[in-house]
Amino acid sequence: MSVYEAIRIRRDVRAEFTGDLVDEATLWRILDAAHRAPSVGNSQPWDFVVVRDRSRLDRFAAHVAEQRVAFRDALPPDRAEIFDPIKIEGITESGTGVVVTYDDTRGGPQILGRATVAETGVYSAVLAIQNLWLAATAEGIGVGWVSFYDPPFLSTLIDLPDGIRPVAWLCVGPVRNLQPVPDLERFGWRTGRPLTEAIHHETFRAAPVMDGPSA
Ligand SMILES: Cc1cc2nc3c(=O)[nH]c(=O)nc-3n(C[C@H](O)[C@H](O)[C@H](O)COP(=O)(O)O)c2cc1C
Repeated sequence: MSVYEAIRIRRDVRAEFTGDLVDEATLWRILDAAHRAPSVGNSQPWDFVVVRDRSRLDRFAAHVAEQRVAFRDALPPDRAEIFDPIKIEGITESGTGVVVTYDDTRGGPQILGRATVAETGVYSAVLAIQNLWLAATAEGIGVGWVSFYDPPFLSTLIDLPDGIRPVAWLCVGPVRNLQPVPDLERFGWRTGRPLTEAIHHETFRAAPVMDGPSA
């Protein structure tokens, strides 16, 4: 599969996990792809905690369910109605959670490139996630990013040392299919915007003018 094809078909997966576990060799290749991501100062500030213990998955799923209710209850009624049928995780169905973490101290006190933009460290961890996601797509494995959690809860659940932050819980597992359209569009929560609106010439406030390549 070309990288463009993987980018085109990649999807955030919630309901399409088969219930089978991703096999060890495939998981290794996916994590290897993640570990090859670029990182500020070559700091590689990520770690990957693979969670498969049923009781730990269940405890995380119960916590996420509580956060979902809290989010739902804070919505205006019309938005709550749209939100209700949207599934926001596949924690137990995927059977494998990969928690990507961030260590601010990795690489020592002088990180080349991070002196003026502190977030570059977390950006690096997110690039590892994107590598993981695209590699999984090429392997026929689905990934769903779950962020409905209290970071201290997740830190305790997987026993993170002080100073190491969770960046994402990724549900990883074989899928029946990948939806052609993102769930949030299918359910009417939010549609994407065209590339022409995202490209600016010279300054941000200039009106978008690009119609696409003429050739
Ligand atoms: C930082 C981040 C956090 C996300 N958190 C959640 C989440 O908690 N639950 C969920 O169902 N989807 C989550 N998503 C998935 C997005 O909803 C999804 O990427 C977006 O709707 C576009 O759909 P697509 O990834 O299938 O193209 C998250 C995505 C990102 C990048």
